[in-house]
Amino acid sequence: MNIQAVDYSTKIPNNVNLAEDRTVLRALESWHPGYIDWWKTMGPEGFQEALVYLRTAVSVDPKGWAKFDYVKMPDYRWGILLAPQEEGRKIPFGQHYGEPAWQEVPGEYRAMLRRLITIQGDTEPASVEQQRHLGKTAPSLYDLRNVFQVNVEEGRHLWAMVYLLQKYFGRDGREEAAELLQRRSGDADKPRMLGAFNEATPDWLSFHMFTFFTDRDGKMQLESLAQSGFDPLSRTCRFMLTEEAHHMFVGETGIGRTLQRTCEAMKEAGIEDVNDIERVRALGVIDLPTMKKKLNLHYSLSLDLFGSEVSTNAANAFNAGIKGRYQETKIQDDHKLETATYPVLKLVNGQATRVDEPALTAINMRLRDDYTADCQRGLDRWNKIIEKVGIDYKLELPSVAFHRHIGEFKDAHATPDGALIDDATWNRDRDKWLPSSDDGEFIKSLMKPVTEPGKFASWISPPRVGIDNKPGDFEYVKIAA
Ligand SMILES: [Fe+2]
Ligand SMILES: [Fe+2]
Repeated sequence: MNIQAVDYSTKIPNNVNLAEDRTVLRALESWHPGYIDWWKTMGPEGFQEALVYLRTAVSVDPKGWAKFDYVKMPDYRWGILLAPQEEGRKIPFGQHYGEPAWQEVPGEYRAMLRRLITIQGDTEPASVEQQRHLGKTAPSLYDLRNVFQVNVEEGRHLWAMVYLLQKYFGRDGREEAAELLQRRSGDADKPRMLGAFNEATPDWLSFHMFTFFTDRDGKMQLESLAQSGFDPLSRTCRFMLTEEAHHMFVGETGIGRTLQRTCEAMKEAGIEDVNDIERVRALGVIDLPTMKKKLNLHYSLSLDLFGSEVSTNAANAFNAGIKGRYQETKIQDDHKLETATYPVLKLVNGQATRVDEPALTAINMRLRDDYTADCQRGLDRWNKIIEKVGIDYKLELPSVAFHRHIGEFKDAHATPDGALIDDATWNRDRDKWLPSSDDGEFIKSLMKPVTEPGKFASWISPPRVGIDNKPGDFEYVKIAA
C-alpha cells in the first residue's frame, strides 16, 4: 500500500493502517458515536442538514491532499492522517539530541506527553463549541462555508489527538479521550482547559479575530510539537498544520475585508476623522477604533495561552525532547541550551524591565516572541489595506503588559503602550482600550444573516477570489428548508 493513500474501508479514513490495528480501531469505533452525538449537540447549530461545500483531506501529499464537495456535516469523513515517516529522523533538541526519534512513548515522559496531547486536544472541540451560533448571522454563504470548514477540521484535529491517546496511552488514554467529549467551553463545572477557549465568540468580528490570533497560537503550539522526539506526535502535527493555514487565512482575510469595507465607506461618505464613530457606524460598517479594541482583546487573551514567560514545565518538556522551539531544526545553536540566555520582559520593582534568563526556562517567551512577529506580519498587511484606500490610521499590537491574566504582568495594569497605571486609571479608561458593552451591542446590531449567493452584509467586502476558484455567486452552502 502506498503510504500516502488513505484507507476508506474502515469507518474511520486513515493512513495508519487501522484495518490491521484492531485494538485501536475498536477503541476509536466505540468513541465514534459519542463524538457524533457531541457534534450534533455542540457543533454548528441549525445547519446539521445543510449541504456545505467542504474540503476533505484525502491524502497527505502536499500537492493534492484535499478534495472539495457538498457534504452534510455529520457525514464528514473525519480521518486519522499523519505526515509520512521520515527515514532516520533524529530527536532535534534537548538532552536526547541526535538520538533516533521515538516510535513508542518513552516511559519516563509518559505523563508529560499525555498531558500535552490532552491540552492540545481540548482546544479543538472547544473552538467548535465557541463558534456554534455563528451560522445564524453569517455575512454571506462564502463566510458560512468558511466557519464550517474550520469547525470540521477542528473536529478532525480532535480525532488526531484521540488517536494518539488511544494508540499509545492504554486505559489512561481512553479515559482522557472520553473526557475530551465531556468538558464544555464556558461551563462553570466542566470548563475547557485553557482560558481563551472558555470565552464567548459572540459575533463574526470576534470569530475572525479568534481565527487570526488564537488559531495562530494553535499554529505555534503545533509547530513546536511538530519538532517532538515522539515521532507519531510530530507527524500528526505536521499534517494538522496544513489545515491550520486555512484557519488563519479565514481570520486574516475576514479582518482585511472588514477594514476594506469600513475604509471605502468612509471615503465614499467623505469622512476623514476616524474618531467620528457615530457617523461611521451610521454607514453600517465597523469603525476603526472598535476594530483596534477587538484586536487588543484577542491578542492579549492569546498571549496568555503561552503560559508563564519563565517556566520549568517548558524547560522540562524541551530537555526531554518532547516540545521544541519554532523551526527548531533551522536554529543555529547547540539545541540543548546549556548556557544560552534569552531576554524576558519582567515586572521588577514596579517597572517593566528586560532581564536575561536562562534560555531553557524562557522557552515559552521565545515561542511567544515568534508568535508576535508572525502576528505583526498580518497587521502590516492590514495596514496596507487601510493605507491603500487612503485613510490615515494604523493598527498596532498592544504591549505584552496590557490586559494580562497569566505571567509577569498578571497583577499589574498597563495601557496598550505599556505604561503601568493604577487601578483607578484602569477602571476609568478600560473602555477606551477594550470593547465596551456598547461596542458589543453595536457589532451585534450588524450581525444579520445574508444567505443569497454572491451577496454580502454591509460591513464586509467580498473576497477577491472564491474557495476552490469558484465564481462570486457560487452557492457554498445549500441551506436545508
Ligand atoms: Fe485545530
Ligand atoms: Fe484551527
